[in-house]
Order: sequence, then structure tokens, then C-alpha cells
Amino acid sequence: MTLPANHPLEDGRTSASALVTTYRGTRGDRTPVWFMRQAGRSLPEYRELRVGTRMLDACLDPAMASEITLQPVRRHGVDAGIFFSDIVIPLKLAGVDVEIEPGRGPVLAKPVRTLADVSDLQDPAGADFSAIAQGVALTVAALGSTPLIGFAGAPFTLAAYLVEGGPSKDHIRARTLMHSDPEAWDGLLTWAADVTGAFLRAQVLAGTSAAQLFDSWVGSLSKADYVARVAPYSARALAAIRDLDVPVVHFGVGSGEVLAEMRDVGAGGDPGAPRVDAVGVDWRIPLDEAARRLGGSVTVQGNVDPALLAAPWPVLEAHVLDVLRRGRSARAHVLNLGHGVPPETDPAVLTRIVELVHAQGGAAGGE
Ligand code: CP3
Repeated sequence: MTLPANHPLEDGRTSASALVTTYRGTRGDRTPVWFMRQAGRSLPEYRELRVGTRMLDACLDPAMASEITLQPVRRHGVDAGIFFSDIVIPLKLAGVDVEIEPGRGPVLAKPVRTLADVSDLQDPAGADFSAIAQGVALTVAALGSTPLIGFAGAPFTLAAYLVEGGPSKDHIRARTLMHSDPEAWDGLLTWAADVTGAFLRAQVLAGTSAAQLFDSWVGSLSKADYVARVAPYSARALAAIRDLDVPVVHFGVGSGEVLAEMRDVGAGGDPGAPRVDAVGVDWRIPLDEAARRLGGSVTVQGNVDPALLAAPWPVLEAHVLDVLRRGRSARAHVLNLGHGVPPETDPAVLTRIVELVHAQGGAAGGE
């Protein structure tokens, strides 16, 4: 299947946008910029809209999810929206009893820890993503020529929540299961790949112009475990959109040791057509070093340190300019944070970063 004829990448609305062309490897007249978690608690208009509505209910209300997605685009003038949702939404839609506890994160009524627990999970084919597709369609119609990014959690990051039953530090239980019960691990990651892949596919078909796979907790893995017991399932998740010609970004936190492996996820036996177009880098390694580890076949995305958002402007400004300068050694660069916007961030600072990056034009991001 190809993208529908009225998809923004097909009808020309977003195919020439700075974001899409940069993900595809061309440097333009400016470095595109957006922020992970740009929607959410840093914005007073978000906090106001969310009063009385639980997080996951907000995600499943197409009009509310769309409005929340548009808020940071209007306010900051970023080069992309990212659809307001959560990595656990596909789990919920596939019957997992999960809620988001404010200030804590996803919490499950019943963790998945044994082969029997895995067998109890519902068939992912039964999940209904129509509320997501509606929310995306509403948002895309309002965004016009600004691209919308769809996203999903990678199977390992989802498994970290499914096995632990909530947020955890080193994901010890999940990593133990990986080795102590390979059959349960295979069943769980296969299930997670299929349900998260279906979530991503629903968003792309409904109109997103890029797709980002978040493997947020990949940094807790050894390279050997990543390659043997995690990456194949991330490839399976991305296979769900393999037939759709949409740029793919792969992001992880603490991923410095596995950047090249994350780049190669889904490349399969065809090195001419790797599935990943861009790799998201956290703040722990400089972008020029990331570009060296990645080689010239992918765009880099990142990696302003979220901690510096609260630093005095001259300190932050110098840091952003340094990130732009180091990003020059990559094939192309999309400016972002190394992880999400902290909730206490002053939103005016984010607007100021967008203005700074755009004012540099292609010179700072170009040759
Ligand atoms: O603007 C955007 O980036 C889009 C929205 C988005 C959310 N979650 C909204 C959200 C995205 C891309 C996610 C992905 C997500 N969810 C990830 C991967 C990205 C990352 O940050 O590493 C992860 C690990 C989750 C799981 C999750 N959901 C956590 C850890 C939390 C934070 C808990 C808290 O309250 O601090 C959530 C809740 C969540 N997801 C919020 C938002 C805006 C906060 C909930 C609220 O506003 O009440």
C-alpha cells in the first residue's frame, strides 16, 4: 500500500517542508526545530484545558488531543507538531488496564511477568484506533503546510512498563525476564511490537508526515542485549509502516553506545534502503561525536540539554549555538532537546530558542 492521495506528503502540503526535507537528508535554508513534549504542562493553556480530564481520556478525545497538539505550534512557531498522545495508549486500546498517575507516569493494574500473563494479553488486531485517526485528521487539517509527527513507544520501553507495572529506575525485572524466560520475552515483545506498530500505522495513514519511535529506556541495556533481544522487535514495529513512504526517526535516552544499531533497525538485508531516516540523540554525547558514530547516511536530531532551559539566557544561547555548530558535521540536523521539556519550563524560553535557530538560517546548520 502507498499513502492515500490526500495525504499531506502526497498532495504536496508538507513534502517540501523544512522538517521532511531535512529528515530525508537535504539541508535547506534553515534548521528545523521542534521539542519533544512541546505539548503539555509547560503551557498554561494546556493546564487549563486539562482540568477535570484524565491524561489518557484527553488522548482519546479527538478534539481535545488535536487542540493540545496545536497549542505549541501556535505559540512557538515550531517546524512541526507532534500528535498529543502517549506510548501506553495502544496498550490501553488493546485491553491493558493502565492509567497515568500525575507526576509519576504509567501504572498498570496487573504487571505482565510470566508466559501465562503474556498469553492473557488480547489479540492486537482487536484494538480500535479510530479515535487516534480522527484526532490526527483534525490536526492535519488545521496544520496546513506544517507537518505533524506521529509516534509510538518501542517494544522494549513498553515492556519496561508492562513488566515492572510502573516507572522503574533500571528496569531490572524486565531485564531479568529477558534472560530468565526467553519464551515469555519473545511473546511479550512480539505483542508489544504488533500493537505499537498498529498505533503508528493508524497515525501515518491518517496524515502524519513523519513517525518517531521512542525507545526511551534503551540506555539501560548492554549492546549485546539490544542487538539480540530488543532490536529485532523494534524492526518488527517499524515493519508496520515499511510500505508507507514516510520519514522515520528513532530516538533513545542514554543511547550513545547503540546509536549505529538504532540506525540500522529495520534495514534488513537491503543496505540501500535503511528504514530509519534520522536518529534522535540525547544530551550525553555531542552531536559531532554522534554524527561520527552514525556516519553520513542519517540525519541527526537533538540535543539541547533540557537542564539548560532553566539556565540564564546567555548560557542557553551559547549552548544552542554550539549544538547547531556540532550538528553541521552530520548529513543534516533537526534541532530538538535531548529529552522532553521539563514541566516547569518557562515557555517563553522555548519560543526564544525557535527564534534563535531560525535567525541562524542555513548558515549555522548548512555547509
Ligand atoms: O508533546 C509531545 O511530545 C507529545 C506528547 C507525548 C506524551 N507522552 C504526552 C504526555 C509523547 C511523545 C509521550 C511519549 C511518552 N510517554 C514516552 C516517550 C517519550 C519520553 O519522554 O521518553 C514515555 C516514556 C511515556 C510514558 C509517560 N507518560 C511518562 C513517563 C509520563 C510522565 C509522568 C509525569 O506526570 O511526569 C507520561 C505522562 C504524559 N505523557 C504527560 C504528557 C503531556 C504528562 C501528563 C499530564 O500532563 O498530566
